[in-house]
Parts: sequence; structure tokens; C-alpha cells
Amino acid sequence: MYRTHTCGELRIENVGKTVTLSGWVQKNRDLGGMTFIDIRDRYGITQLAFNMETNSKLTEDARKLGREYVIQVTGLVTERYSKNKRIPTGEIEINVEELKVLNKSDVPPFTIEDKTDGGEEILMKYRYLDLRRNPNQQALMLRYKMSIEVRNYLDKQGFIDVETPVLIKSTPEGARDFVVPSRLHHGSFYALPQSPQTMKQLLMVAGYDRYYQIVKCFRDEDLRADRQPEFTQIDCEMSFVEQEDILNTFEGLAKHMFKVFKNVEFNEPFIRMPYAEAMEKYGSDKPDLRFGMEINNITNLGKGKDFKIFDDAEFIGGICAKNISDKFTRKQIDKLTDYVKRPQIGAQGLIWLRFNEDGTLKSSVDKFFNEEDLKKWADSFNAQPNDILFVVSGSKEKSLKILGELRLELARQLELFDNSKFAPLWVVDFPLLEWDEETKRFYAMHHPFTSPKPDDIELLDSDPGKVRANAYDFVVNGVELGGGSIRIHDSELQSKMFKTLGFSDEEAQEQFGFLMNAFKYGAPPHGGIAYGFDRWTAMFNDSDSIKDVIAFPKNNSGKDVMLESPGTISNTQLDELGLKLK
Ligand code: AMO
Repeated sequence: MYRTHTCGELRIENVGKTVTLSGWVQKNRDLGGMTFIDIRDRYGITQLAFNMETNSKLTEDARKLGREYVIQVTGLVTERYSKNKRIPTGEIEINVEELKVLNKSDVPPFTIEDKTDGGEEILMKYRYLDLRRNPNQQALMLRYKMSIEVRNYLDKQGFIDVETPVLIKSTPEGARDFVVPSRLHHGSFYALPQSPQTMKQLLMVAGYDRYYQIVKCFRDEDLRADRQPEFTQIDCEMSFVEQEDILNTFEGLAKHMFKVFKNVEFNEPFIRMPYAEAMEKYGSDKPDLRFGMEINNITNLGKGKDFKIFDDAEFIGGICAKNISDKFTRKQIDKLTDYVKRPQIGAQGLIWLRFNEDGTLKSSVDKFFNEEDLKKWADSFNAQPNDILFVVSGSKEKSLKILGELRLELARQLELFDNSKFAPLWVVDFPLLEWDEETKRFYAMHHPFTSPKPDDIELLDSDPGKVRANAYDFVVNGVELGGGSIRIHDSELQSKMFKTLGFSDEEAQEQFGFLMNAFKYGAPPHGGIAYGFDRWTAMFNDSDSIKDVIAFPKNNSGKDVMLESPGTISNTQLDELGLKLK
């Protein structure tokens, strides 16, 4: 028998018992007469004591144990002389009588402690050692508990878990597909699902009514802190529902999760904010509502003063940073200007207006606007002495996005993000379609199976860009944690939608014939949602990156540096697949 107890289990009540523990050597301290070793497993750490006087041979052996050796010890549980209040086993230690080395270990490339000295690359290369560290074990444990809680909750609501295939045909979620060449059918490829979207809709046609799956999805897209090429969704679909039914059901799940894992109770319904309002007020379709600093439109106030930039602009607007003017230097404003002028954000410049504590106003456009004009700006922002206004102008869409980015950057600098606060909302009424200047065509903003709002269907022919969708996102603290829609269940409307998206009948038939055919056989009205499970876990774990809550994540260039994947394959494999490399 390797153990009678785990390394996190023994307490003062166990004193006097002879026990056997197995685990890893965390620390080895030689204090002359005594040697102390911390033995660690998933459950905790226990101190082992070796006494030179009573057993010199054993103590000599113990001194030789290196970090991360796997050992088994048997001994008597005794009360500790100096107690360690920081760990649950801190009142006891094991007086070791037998020691067995189960396996040696090379010196690990970094310390396996809560705060390690390893850099990101090396931690990822030795992820199995990194995962021994407590914060990572806690993260994966949290992930597991969250998945159980989700399953139990959805089970009680009558949802059933149905697995769907991973080798499928392209699903249009807006990213590139990962593809797998077929050996039996040269020149043909499977695609890995970007989500089980079409499969879950087919399950609704099949009458399964309430489906869920905690499922891997694959998207070949540029990576960021909250994006991995393979990630996990809590994917759900329901039949005979309208948008509110779905929002209510999944709001219930979200509230339950907040209560269980964060002890936060939301008694009111979550805000439902139309997309247009989110863009106007926050310059983002995933607004962070933990702080205010809403965008204010001052187009009317900025025109007609011979300031050409404003006179030519479709939109003039800004945000008001409260109570910072005395601390926020000219240099900081210049840096902020550089920030918004970066190509990713694309502002032409940044205009500022200081509301001095003595009530006077000072701005970067004093040449064009007198004190009275500027006072009007300040009033329209409800600005107070010591506030600074930041203003941009240009096309409306772009200016709002710039202000959205500026708002977040200011919040970072002014430390307005409070991670103990949660501000959830539903963003609703997304546009159905999105125009792409480069390819000069419309794309589905969510995916092509999303239904238009019934009131807007007529616009599909005359003004497709104006059509709103029955689509919604779940947003918390500026993070998109989920998204879904009510689907089209009518094959005629679906084929009209494909046409609007520029698919010919043949292309639509070739790619989605299976779905349109299925819709001919009694498709119920249906809709659904997918929550991003990694993002949700990362938020509850207070992690900046979803990598922290994934056992074996890829690095920022999509590589697994531990497995060295992606890797090459042999010529024989290529031959079998009928492939030749360029
Ligand atoms: P969507 O594309 O909005 O919807 O994805 C749902 C949620 O999945 C998460 N997510 C990601 N997480 C980590 N890495 C990624 N690369 C990544 N991409 C998306 C986000 C997102 O909100 N089939 C639809 C759902 C539906 O309509 O029911 C879909 O996949 O949290």
C-alpha cells in the first residue's frame, strides 16, 4: 500500500497514529540534528521530521533527497513544536521511521512554488511541472467544479448532453477552419468544428428540444489573451422558444454560477442593452459597466467655429475623466494621444479640455473656441472643476470605437477596474449583417443561421445593413462571455439569407444543403447560445489569460511548445493522404 492518508489530510486529532504517505519532495531543510522535508501531493503539504540522534542512517538518506523526488514514508504523527498556521496540516508532523524512494527526479527547471521563477516559455515547455504548482491546481479544480455545476443545473432544466462529431464539414463562424485531409478520399478534407452550430440545429429538427454540450471548438484565428485556437464552449440549443425564453434560462444559469462560485447575488434581471446604445455610450459591443465615463455626442457644439477638422466631421464626441486634472500631466495627455493614434486604433488626434479648479477652462483648441463655447462643452458633459474632457471627431462609427478604446485605456491608467465587482448585461439587437469594405460584400455578424427581427425582414432587400437580428451576447466586465441567436427555421428565408450573403444557389446547396433539406421536414422554431467556458473560468479565477485555466494551452503563436506541435509528418503519411508539400 502506497499510502494510508493524503498529504493534506492529517490533523492534531491524528497524533499517535502510524501513517504512510506518498508524494513529492517540495523542500528539504537540513538543520544539523534534524532534517525536515515537506512532502506534497494534490491535497496539500505535510512536514516530515528525521532525527539524527534516533536514526542517523535514515536522516542521512533523507538529506540526499532532491526536489521533486517521489517518496513514500511511514511514521508516527506527532504534535509540532513550532506550528505553521498557514497550512491545514500545520499543527502536526510525521516522525519518519521508514523511507522509500519511489522515483528520482532531475532538478526541475524552475521552482515549484506558488510564485515561481520560471519564464512563460519554460513553464509551457514543462507544463506538467507547472501544473504541480498550487495556483494551477486550484484553477483546474475550479474549472472542474464549474463544469459539474453547469451540468447539474442544465440537467435539472431538462437539457441533455449529446456529443457531436469533430470531423465535420466547414461551419461558418467567421474564422478560418482547421482542416484534416482524408486518406480514403484524396483531395477531400474534413473541417474541425468552429462550433457545433449546425449539428445542434439538426438535433432540434430531430426533436431533442433541449441540448447542451461542454465541447471543444476549433478556430484558426489570431490569438489574444482571451483566444485559443481550441477552446471550450458550453453550447446549448432549445426548441419552441423566443429570445426572452433563452435569455431568462441562461441568465438563470449565470446567476447560479455567480452565487455558487463568487457568492454574488443578482436579484434584478440583467440589463438588456441594444447594440446601438452600447456603441453610442461605450463605443463597444462589450461594454464594461463597472465604471461610467460614457461617451457624449457634442457634434452640434463643435461646428461653425472655423475649425475645419470639426466642420468636416460627421461626428464629434468625447468622454469626461473625473477629478484628475491636477494629477494628469501634459506628458500623460501626449502619451494618451499617441495611444489612440496607434494604427490599431487609428485616431487622427486627441483634443483635450481641462476644467481648472478655479473654474477656468483650458483646451488644445483655444484658438477656435472661446471660454463661453468651451463652457457649453463642459456643461453638456456635466463636467466639474478638476475634470478633463477628451474629444475626437471623424466618421461616427470610427470615432465611437476610438472613444471606446480611450475609455478603457483611461480606466486602466486610473485603476477603475475593480475585479471584485461584476457588471453583467445582455447586448441585444445586433445588426444581422456587417459590410466589408475590402471584399465589398455583407457578412453575417453572428452566423448565417441567425434570424432577422420580423419587423426588419422587409429591409433585407432594400437596406440590408439596417436589419437587426434576434441575436444577443452575454457580457461581463467588458468580456464577451457568450453569444447566441434565434435561428431561421424556414428553408425559404434561409436561402434568401444565403443570397444576401452572396452565395449562389449551388454554393449554398453544396455547403449547407444538408441543413436546408432538414428544414423541409418540420423544423421547430429554435434558438440557442454558447458560453465561452475558458473565459468564464478565467474570470472566476481572476486570471488575465484563459491559458491559466486550460491544462495544456497553446502559446501566442498557436504552438504547443511541450508537444512541439504543429509538427511535420513523414513522406509515407503524405503519400497515404495524397498530399505534396509546396
Ligand atoms: P460565438 O462565436 O459568439 O458563438 O462563440 C461563443 C463564445 O465562445 C467564446 N469564444 C472563444 N473563447 C476562447 N477562444 C476563442 N477563440 C473563442 N471564440 C469564441 C466567447 C464567445 O462568446 N455557434 C455560436 C453560438 C450560438 O449561436 O449558439 C457561437 O459559436 O466567449
